[in-house]
Amino acid sequence: MNKQRMPILEKLLNHKLVAKYSFHVPGHKNGLLYNGIENNPFNDILKIDQTELNGLDDLHSPEGCIGQSQTMLQELYDSYRSYYLINGSTVGNLAAVFSTCESGDKIIVQRNSHKSVLNAIKFKDLRPIFLEPEYDMEYGTASYLDFETVKQAIDLHSDAKAFLITSPNYYGLTTDYTEHIKYIKSKNIIVICDEAHGAHFIKGAPFPQSTINQGAHIVIQSAHKTLPAMTMASWMHISRDFNKKEELEYNLSVLQSSSPSYPLMASLDYARFFLENLTSDDIYKIKNSIENFIDRLNNIPQIYICKSKDSKMIKDFLKIKINSNTVVNGFELQARFESEGIYTELADENGVLLIHPLNVLDNIDTLITKIYKSVQDLPVIKKNHSFYSIIKNDKVTSIEYNYKELSKITKSFVDIKNSIGMVCAQNIIPYPPGIPFLIEGETITEGKIIALNKYLDAGFRFQGTPFLYDGKISVFNLKG
Ligand SMILES: Cc1ncc(COP(=O)(O)O)c(C=O)c1O
Repeated sequence: MNKQRMPILEKLLNHKLVAKYSFHVPGHKNGLLYNGIENNPFNDILKIDQTELNGLDDLHSPEGCIGQSQTMLQELYDSYRSYYLINGSTVGNLAAVFSTCESGDKIIVQRNSHKSVLNAIKFKDLRPIFLEPEYDMEYGTASYLDFETVKQAIDLHSDAKAFLITSPNYYGLTTDYTEHIKYIKSKNIIVICDEAHGAHFIKGAPFPQSTINQGAHIVIQSAHKTLPAMTMASWMHISRDFNKKEELEYNLSVLQSSSPSYPLMASLDYARFFLENLTSDDIYKIKNSIENFIDRLNNIPQIYICKSKDSKMIKDFLKIKINSNTVVNGFELQARFESEGIYTELADENGVLLIHPLNVLDNIDTLITKIYKSVQDLPVIKKNHSFYSIIKNDKVTSIEYNYKELSKITKSFVDIKNSIGMVCAQNIIPYPPGIPFLIEGETITEGKIIALNKYLDAGFRFQGTPFLYDGKISVFNLKG
């Protein structure tokens, strides 16, 4: 197939020329009903916001332009099948877990999995086995799963049905998972990889290697995170030795909207085209430009760029972690950058994370000037960075109760300080990066409470936990 084509976008643009009258959904009628907005930003996009009309194919039974576009994606990633997702990697994770595990089955996951993984486990009433990742002391964050941890978990739980790896993490940190995946597969356990942050890895070195090439059965990627796809637009791939294709396709059809967004799918068509045309030369130019940017950032005394000393760790060079060399924490640093119009991906206790675009920046001088301006008044101190988000758990843990049992038990809110020893009834997830800190069903320890109070003092935001800011935590009424 001609790799320069974008079948979905082409059909939509053609449709725009020929379709004069809309007597079908969506109700905006090619944007006709959008009145009264000055310089209406929706104008162009609504003309391609179509439905399953003749010639525009159907995501749930793709035989035309969507099918062709997915086949082109399959060829690029050398997968057995690739699927467009219009509800993010979130729906990919849900569908992958639902297709590989039945209620009561064991699934092995990293403790720092995305919340969609934890939701999938709870929905299906699975028995989760949580693995403690390694921590990188330069970054102050989780880095990757060590082979010994994986081996220990598999040897203890060889009856698990699936193993879900998250690679890379939010900070772009990963390792070579070839050996891990081989070992897991040797026990007939399905390997799912949440590669939400690594859709560009398929291009190979100097990017880290994709887990598709390391043998994973299912790989899920948020094309919208690093490729030029619209928010939510994602895709997933399956390998030739994955034998639950029908179950997966069924679950995707159940979980995804019956009215998939054409602008999102067209943006996936474009993201695939973009990646196809990204040459090694382009990639090396981007890498050199990032190295130059980092050198210039490191010349600003108030900040420094994290660099790991761990030889097993592999890092995506698009992710740049800037830490503070001053009294201000990451949240204040973020606010200072924003006052200069520079918006970052996330802030944590020590710094901010930038996701560099997949092109060469032509405004490095301006950026350096603005970043310097935002911090120049701060006295430089070489502080000891506090990594209080690092609370090490045992390498392999599980929860005492199953989710069905817990669903029958009442809950109450108690003061955080009185909750030690109780069973947590909510997922406590600082956002970003959206990694669970306390998981529903886990026993609350003193160490967790100390860390939680520090999170709250530092200004972390948590999703769906309204009373946490009032010092209350939800627990199951199990004891006393
Ligand atoms: C590791 C990881 N997996 C999955 C997701 C969910 O991806 P999406 O936003 O595409 O649904 C995220 C989102 O941040 C993530 O960080």
